[in-house]
Amino acid sequence: MAIQDISRSPSLPLDPQLEIRELIMFMILKSKNLMELRFDPSGIVVQVPNAAQQCSDQFASSMMDAEELLYLAASLAAFPWDERAIVVEIGTYVGTTAVFMAKIFEVLGRRVSILSIDPFERFQPDSLNPQGIYGAYVHNITSYGVASICLPLAAFSQDAAPVVPATIGVLIIDGGHHYSIVRQDLELYAPKVLPKGLIFLDDYDLAFPGVVRAVDDYFFKDGPFRILHKSFATTANPRRANFVIAQRL
Ligand SMILES: C[S@@+](CC[C@H](N)C(=O)[O-])C[C@H]1O[C@@H](n2cnc3c(N)ncnc32)[C@H](O)[C@@H]1O
Repeated sequence: MAIQDISRSPSLPLDPQLEIRELIMFMILKSKNLMELRFDPSGIVVQVPNAAQQCSDQFASSMMDAEELLYLAASLAAFPWDERAIVVEIGTYVGTTAVFMAKIFEVLGRRVSILSIDPFERFQPDSLNPQGIYGAYVHNITSYGVASICLPLAAFSQDAAPVVPATIGVLIIDGGHHYSIVRQDLELYAPKVLPKGLIFLDDYDLAFPGVVRAVDDYFFKDGPFRILHKSFATTANPRRANFVIAQRL
């Protein structure tokens, strides 16, 4: 995992070849309780508060593990938020990741609305998708004290698109996992992402071939988005999280 956790500096072996500039940066980050995450293949480095690590461990679930959540936190930290920009999450299930994002915004000292679109019990679960549970979502956002910024929209993403504003700072696509649905989510919602905004796609995974194909088709070379980060399991690293992060140019 390409994470340099500077909070654990006492045990970090100091490289004698370390450039002075890097050493100064290391000391500054340490004093500010920050860590750095490197996106691969783009090489972009994002600074994230150390507290994001504890949050990621706390909210890791069968939907997103701690590594993936940390990169989601980095995506939230990377966007230059203003008062009109929002997060849109397609597919929230019981809201665990929505609550995680709200907690990351607390750490970042920002108030950003998180609109979670999910038909909940109206969705018929299938082999690729669980069914969202509205009561569990409401219970989670309420008990974690984030109900004022976590806003549910109980609808299928394709029906909700006309009422969602084109002011998305970070878009999470984790709803239907079939090719036609992912492709449609990209076509309907990616144009609503602001310049420098990010799209975070879960389950870029051979177990979800429709997700892989939709992502590979949509993010073509010289298009309006560039891939910042791609993480997927390999035989050498079978436990790696499977997700993609793209950024609007
Ligand atoms: C994998 S779960 C989402 C997990 C959630 N993002 C998390 O990290 O905890 C998929 C969710 O997508 C919802 N869903 C299925 N089809 C959808 C659609 N067309 N639009 C929006 N949500 C959909 C399901 O009801 C389910 O709650």
